[in-house]
Amino acid sequence: MILVTGATGQLGQIVIEKLLAKIPSNQIAALVRDANKAEHLIAKGVNVRVGDYQNGESLLAAFQGVEKLLLISSSDFNDRLGQHKNAIDAAVKAGVKHVFYTCVTMNDINSSPLKPLLEEHFLTEDYLKASGLSYTFLQNSLYAEVIPMFLGENVVETGVFFPAGDGEVAFALREDLGEATANILVSEGHENQTYNLTGSEIISFAEIAAILSELSDESVSYINPENEVFEGALKQFGLPEGIIQMSVLFAAGIKNNDFNKTYDRLEKFLGRKPTSIKTYLKAVYKL
Ligand SMILES: NC(=O)c1ccc[n+]([C@@H]2O[C@H](COP(=O)([O-])OP(=O)(O)OC[C@H]3O[C@@H](n4cnc5c(N)ncnc54)[C@H](OP(=O)(O)O)[C@@H]3O)[C@@H](O)[C@H]2O)c1
Repeated sequence: MILVTGATGQLGQIVIEKLLAKIPSNQIAALVRDANKAEHLIAKGVNVRVGDYQNGESLLAAFQGVEKLLLISSSDFNDRLGQHKNAIDAAVKAGVKHVFYTCVTMNDINSSPLKPLLEEHFLTEDYLKASGLSYTFLQNSLYAEVIPMFLGENVVETGVFFPAGDGEVAFALREDLGEATANILVSEGHENQTYNLTGSEIISFAEIAAILSELSDESVSYINPENEVFEGALKQFGLPEGIIQMSVLFAAGIKNNDFNKTYDRLEKFLGRKPTSIKTYLKAVYKL
């Protein structure tokens, strides 16, 4: 039995869809916080189990009979490390054999402005390694889906306004990461491995503006504002403070070239080239 946590989330849903195309539904379990959000999974024959990373007992019950566990990192930044530790402890107690943990691929967490936000991923990796369980670290690149989140819906009109300087990123689509993850889960031989899962191209925000110009036949500029100007603009849009701070930190990390290396692993596990950023931008902005 393969159990996927975060099964009502965006990555988890993709992984389950891809698994359903490969193995019988009675070999797939899903951890959800709210069973009402999982009716579509129950209808497909997925074994839905209710549990919360904050509640170790609920996880212990949910992980019974599970051989491989895909631990999708929590989206709740309130003590993520503690939540992940609860999941790993429960996996040990429940007799899970192998935990696959979705984390992040970056050059050096210690010199990154994103350390306060992302260090918990690496501390979770250490904890999982020390647990004695077989582990696989799925170090995902930044999702391409963060591009519209950072640039907004009307980017062709507004221009690319983001303080990332000349920083480049090896973005990967959630869809591709989910597909590769499912391929990894249904195959053997991934014990104690770290996989860097990135797109096959690196791209700057100036290049994103150039692609948008080409696709739209408009002149889309790249503006690299000072942080204070960027923060002020986001405040004017009424965005919550947490989102503003996260955007500022990610821009700083990108400017610091934290995510500018490509690896061939994603391509290998997909058996094809990862989707290009041009294809993604064309689809998401309907150009
Ligand atoms: N690489 C990147 O660029 C990037 C970008 C964003 C996020 N991430 C990380 O990757 C993870 C997966 O991405 P995503 O896009 O699928 O995120 P998402 O759509 O926000 O899904 C997060 C999932 O985590 C579940 N969750 C949150 N707190 C939980 C708890 N206390 N107990 C059990 N489950 C809990 C959520 O459950 P509910 O449905 O009940 O809320 C949801 O299913 C995120 O959680 C985050 O850690 C990576």
